[in-house]
Amino acid sequence: MSETLEDVQGTATAEALSEPFTIGVEAYLSEDYARAERDRLWRKVWQQVGRVEEIAEVGSWITYEILDDSIIVMRTAPNKIRAYYNVCSHRGRRLVDTPPRARNARGRGRQFVCGFHGWRYDIEGRCTHVPEREDWQGVLTDDKIRLREVKVDTWGGWIFINMDPESEPLRDYLEPAATLLEPFQLERFRYRWRRWLVFDCNWKVALEAFNETYHVPYTHPEFIPFGSFLGWSRAQGRHSNIGFEAPKGLEENQGKLRIGGGVDARVSTAEMQNFIWENANTNTTETLVDVANRLVKELPEGTPPDQVAKYWLETARREDAERGVDWPTVAPEAVAKSGTAWQIFPNFQIGHGQNNMLCYGARPYGYDPDKCIFEAAVYQLYPEGQEPETEWLYTPQDDPDWRTVLPQDFSNMAAVQQGMKTQGFSGTKPNPYRERSTVNLHRNLSKYMGTGAPRDLA
Ligand code: FES
Ligand SMILES: [Fe+2]
Repeated sequence: MSETLEDVQGTATAEALSEPFTIGVEAYLSEDYARAERDRLWRKVWQQVGRVEEIAEVGSWITYEILDDSIIVMRTAPNKIRAYYNVCSHRGRRLVDTPPRARNARGRGRQFVCGFHGWRYDIEGRCTHVPEREDWQGVLTDDKIRLREVKVDTWGGWIFINMDPESEPLRDYLEPAATLLEPFQLERFRYRWRRWLVFDCNWKVALEAFNETYHVPYTHPEFIPFGSFLGWSRAQGRHSNIGFEAPKGLEENQGKLRIGGGVDARVSTAEMQNFIWENANTNTTETLVDVANRLVKELPEGTPPDQVAKYWLETARREDAERGVDWPTVAPEAVAKSGTAWQIFPNFQIGHGQNNMLCYGARPYGYDPDKCIFEAAVYQLYPEGQEPETEWLYTPQDDPDWRTVLPQDFSNMAAVQQGMKTQGFSGTKPNPYRERSTVNLHRNLSKYMGTGAPRDLA
């Protein structure tokens, strides 16, 4: 990597798209557009399909499904991951089936045996057994019947695939996000929980419920007493990022770990931490909550907010270190530049932090533009060997396990999808400062799709 942090954070891209734009509804509603996404978008872009630790052992694999394509991602050697189309080369049966209600299939083994006529494949994708192969009179060469490969690479502990053999390398594709997120050492994080469901909205509507801070006071009024959660949004080439505005002298407070904004920061920080822990189960950890709950006891009354923040974060960092959880050290300037979340084109959001993160993904559910698969996962740092065992839990929208904060976001999704369909709606009008990530998403989508570019609102 030759680029420096300064290069990739050039203001030319960061401040682009600051004029008012409007976006037509085609990308959200059109069946033709949804169908065209398969070839123009999904078969061209890098897509996040899982974590490296999900296939820790040689022979372990997971599948990933995107519209008509199912892909097996497998560890074939201690340091090698390969990906294959999940289809038997004989008559086209899917090699592995996804169990009902499961997000994906997973397993471990030395070979795949097709259930239809028993053709076998080894982990290198070679077809190793065809019953009565001589009937093909010698023309069924190894090359004709091996599993077809898909490009695969890893970054930040995630596995990404790309079905386009001509695509650029993953690392180049991810810039400038990859460089700006490097200090956070995201590859060290592990799942705390992960849930998925199907929404009655387009995948873009689902992602756009989380790629801005403009909605926070109105969709989540409970947060108002804890301070302002409004922030900026920047175009970063094909990706975007968002971050909070911080009061002067509290630059660290631009990150995820914010102190409460009440009169007594000791009290409001504890209140906010308890609220988030109980009602969202995101964006904080047990250590942070525990330390926040001791602030009143351990700090004198009248401690200024910046001192409360410093004590809280330093104490939590030290106590985590004592139990073998080392937070990455990220310079305040890098925290400020990286913001609180990245929208990785086209459909993955990384809400990074110094000891926990919250990520979202959304993708089509068949060719119905009114439906999508949505996933949310919380990650954190754990002492080695103490990472929890997790799996993707199908959790419908009204399930109490979502707690209360995320369902507030969910409540807008189908309503937006429905609302956009009326003749009385003229197109979205994203906030040019706080919702620039949405404009940038559609600007980049239009390059792949050949339609749907944001238009000047003036
Ligand atoms: S389709 Fe797989 S062996 Fe026939
Ligand atoms: Fe929200």
